[in-house]
Amino acid sequence: MLIINTIPALRQQLQLWRAAGEQIALVPTMGNLHAGHLTLIEQAQAQAARVVVSIFVNPTQFGPNEDFASYPRTLAADQQHLEQLNVDLLFLPEVATLYPEGACTRVEVGQLATLHCGASRPGHFSGVATIVTKLFNLVQPDKACFGAKDFQQLSIIRQMVRDLDMPIEIISVPTVREADGLAMSSRNGYLTPEQRALAPKLYQSLQAAHAAIFAGDRDYAALQQQQIAWLQSVGFTPDYFVVCKQVNLQPATPDDSELVILVAAKLGKPRLIDNLSFSLSL
Ligand code: PAF
Repeated sequence: MLIINTIPALRQQLQLWRAAGEQIALVPTMGNLHAGHLTLIEQAQAQAARVVVSIFVNPTQFGPNEDFASYPRTLAADQQHLEQLNVDLLFLPEVATLYPEGACTRVEVGQLATLHCGASRPGHFSGVATIVTKLFNLVQPDKACFGAKDFQQLSIIRQMVRDLDMPIEIISVPTVREADGLAMSSRNGYLTPEQRALAPKLYQSLQAAHAAIFAGDRDYAALQQQQIAWLQSVGFTPDYFVVCKQVNLQPATPDDSELVILVAAKLGKPRLIDNLSFSLSL
């Protein structure tokens, strides 16, 4: 596996692959790789001859009181995983490489980025859209893989790619879960053993709402309230629990068939997110 830290070296290598007619897939990550990331990489390998993985803990997507400094950095283990998976290239830039002195341009994706996690984490999605644009410009991949666990992030990236005519196919990779249903996330490592035991209840709340909707319940406002109350009763501090239209993440109505339930809740300090998307036959 090639490990590249600089932009000129990255461009030089990618140029060789492109000249040989090889397709390139990108898997952008912030490291601390888990089975969910490994699935993204396997998908990327199934889609293109060359796979580039980036590891970059992106400062612009963290708020002032968030965990940028303490975000888990596990480079040695990450590198080992990537070697084992035969990844072609690891792009490992420094912060100053991607955000040199004076860099000030930001990508704003509009209303979609102000909802849900965007409301609780102002500026977060602008940071995500900016770094993903930069990585897309640097790597110019044919395809890029993102986890469906970050449903809103994925929607925002799709919107951005459409709006800015980026010639990149965005591939959504299903959420990978622990045996007890907890969605895999780098932030799960923050959970104490007691919190870890409670954490699967987040997915259970999604499953309960999903079951109610399938049984015919269309009072989404009441359903949301019920699940928020239940999450509180078992020890979470819910941020939101919303039944949305997949297409724009606006509140769903009984006439909508393509739905996603989005949830975010704190368990002590760690904030967990999850979602469940499905189609209803009306
Ligand atoms: O999902 C993530 O890990 C990050 O938001 C991403 C897409 C790598 C951008 O920093």
